[in-house]
Amino acid sequence: MDKLRVTGNGPLRGAVRISGAKNAALPILCSSLLVKAPVTFVNVPQLNDTRTTVRLLNQMGVTAARTETHRVEIDASTLTKPVAEYDLVKTMRASVLVLGPLVARWGEARVSLPGGCAIGQRPVDQHLKGLEAMGAEVTLDGGYINAAAPGGRLKGAHIVMDMVTVTGTENVMMAATLADGVTVIENAAREPEVVDLANCLIAMGADIKGAGTDTITITGVDNLHSATYRVMPDRIEAGTFACAVAAVGGEVTLLDAPVTAMDAIFDKLRDAGCSIAVNGSNVTVSRKGPLKAVSVKTAPYPAFPTDMQAQLMAMNVVAEGTAVMTENIFENRMMHVSELCRLGAKIDITGNTAVVQGVSELKGANVMATDLRASASLVIAGLCATGTTMIDRIYHLDRGYEHIEDKLIGLGATIERVSS
Ligand code: EPU
Repeated sequence: MDKLRVTGNGPLRGAVRISGAKNAALPILCSSLLVKAPVTFVNVPQLNDTRTTVRLLNQMGVTAARTETHRVEIDASTLTKPVAEYDLVKTMRASVLVLGPLVARWGEARVSLPGGCAIGQRPVDQHLKGLEAMGAEVTLDGGYINAAAPGGRLKGAHIVMDMVTVTGTENVMMAATLADGVTVIENAAREPEVVDLANCLIAMGADIKGAGTDTITITGVDNLHSATYRVMPDRIEAGTFACAVAAVGGEVTLLDAPVTAMDAIFDKLRDAGCSIAVNGSNVTVSRKGPLKAVSVKTAPYPAFPTDMQAQLMAMNVVAEGTAVMTENIFENRMMHVSELCRLGAKIDITGNTAVVQGVSELKGANVMATDLRASASLVIAGLCATGTTMIDRIYHLDRGYEHIEDKLIGLGATIERVSS
């Protein structure tokens, strides 16, 4: 199992290109199932999760392959088996995103229930509620979701989501593109990745209005067609590098960043004492003066994202003052706290609120990555610490960050992948 050896080495300097967004690429790859023709996606990041998605499509008989570093070509006209097996779904919850497209295009699907994960229970009841409202018959058996559209076609419906769910909105929106009639999703997720998926579907011929607001209206069409679509850049990867610069100091330009989707992140970094200079799609983040602790409450977009909470905490750990950080999306997304404390952080947790008291120094230690963003927070903390930090279980990191160590080395960090 690979580990990362990180040695604190002072400020970061230079420029780093931001990769395509994991959480946009995954639903977009799954959207290919709606089309009986070849589609091409570019700016698809090379990650374990995108590899898993391509394998999942292959298991269904779909022709899908990475034809260039960041280009994936898919032809779902060869689909023979609308089934997502447990062996792959258990490694990636986002596999459930095949459910909506399969029922919409094939009339039926059998998809393993994703189950819980390290950060929370993460049920999929809203995905199923949406599909049932569109007429799907859904049963659960042997750990699988079986869904079928009577007569082979879903029907438009008015759906009010009980809570804001990103992949729930995406699953229902994809299913509605081929339904008979109009579907309205209320209390829809407004995340930029939902908008990116909607734009991709529109490029394939779907009729979707309101993506990016909390009411999305989809008028079903008979077929979608071939398209080439470029995945948006990753706001969480960009935010992670920005937090790293805030924490260790220096000046880094994020090239091709999704600037307009990052307001909540940049606001917090400005409050922390960073300068953020936007030039088109490039953003230069720098910190020369003292770092101030910033409090935050995570919430759905456009508020501060749960996917940045751990990285901001790593920054707060070495800031002046005290930050109160509340996680409102997932019930168990504070597992990085005990690992950060192994490096010398002072953090008290009560429920989903962490009180972080900044310290002047962290010291390197052995730590364990527990989930994707927790891993990123440990990398940032390791860059701030004196001595060497060894991060175990970095397979979590490889699910969502493309070549993170190479990118950090390019910015002057001392970081090395160690295979054991
Ligand atoms: N929820 C339900 N029922 C549902 C769906 C969601 O109770 O049917 C709850 C969840 O348990 C959670 C809340 O609603 O408490 C919001 O979850 P959401 O459905 O929005 O999360 P998700 O769609 O499973 C996506 C991202 C996550 C990101 C969250 C929140 C993808 C592939 N994943 O997950 O990304 O944290 O939205 O923004 O888009 C990550 O990249 O590290 C990551 C975990």
